[in-house]
Amino acid sequence: MVPEGYSASSITRGLQTAFIGHKVNYYPHLTSTMDIAREEAGRGTAEGTVVITGEQTGGRGRQRRAWLSPEGNIALSIVLYPEIAGLPYLVMIASLAAVRSIEAVTGLKPQIKWPNDILISGKKVCGILIENEVKGSRVDYSIVGIGINVDLKASDFAEISATATSLKDELDGSVQRTNIIRNLLTEFERLYLELPAGESIFKEWRDSLYTLGKEVVVNSGDDVLEGIAESVDKSGALTLRLNNGSLNTVVAGDVTLRHG
Ligand code: BTN
Repeated sequence: MVPEGYSASSITRGLQTAFIGHKVNYYPHLTSTMDIAREEAGRGTAEGTVVITGEQTGGRGRQRRAWLSPEGNIALSIVLYPEIAGLPYLVMIASLAAVRSIEAVTGLKPQIKWPNDILISGKKVCGILIENEVKGSRVDYSIVGIGINVDLKASDFAEISATATSLKDELDGSVQRTNIIRNLLTEFERLYLELPAGESIFKEWRDSLYTLGKEVVVNSGDDVLEGIAESVDKSGALTLRLNNGSLNTVVAGDVTLRHG
């Protein structure tokens, strides 16, 4: 069943953006929107092209994890051609756009867990995956993938029931996916147009991170680090004050709070 007439035209109709979402390719089922968006980018599709699907059978997340993506959720990828200096900001832009759109449509107050997990009540509601194709100092393309749990009942899926939530779980009612997507694309563009400066994007992202100041455990590659999440820099890296007092910069990893 495809509820609420989910289609490309339901997203693009009257969308007030300059280029993001002007071209939307909708597929009822896909392995991953990342792959189709990459193909589109390889063909030189217009910047802001969105690949969206009802259901992914091979959705992927950060750190080579699978991303559960049944019908009823949002799974989309946006094709971009940024300058290389803009790359660190894409994750900040996507996180802030997701937070703003969920808040505007539902009234819920999501939080960002470094680097780009969106949580509600401490559980993950949205994940972001960015894949860049870079040659030397030139970006061929960037694909920004965003997955939002909308209609999913997290308790139905053993593998995520302890750590994930959905808008339906939080609201105890349904939400129109198209409203969130339209809002998300609009907010994404608003932030993206603030590049190349990026200063205000960085500040808003930093100030939205609920991780800062907390005692955390960071899994980064084979390393497990414990300490206080002290700050972030403009590249998006996290500075951790380890228990022995030294500082450690973490570029990528998974953070959990030590005290829940
Ligand atoms: C994560 O938190 O690990 C990132 C999850 C990203 C999921 C989205 S859903 C749309 C796009 N297609 C994918 O296969 N992954 C991203």
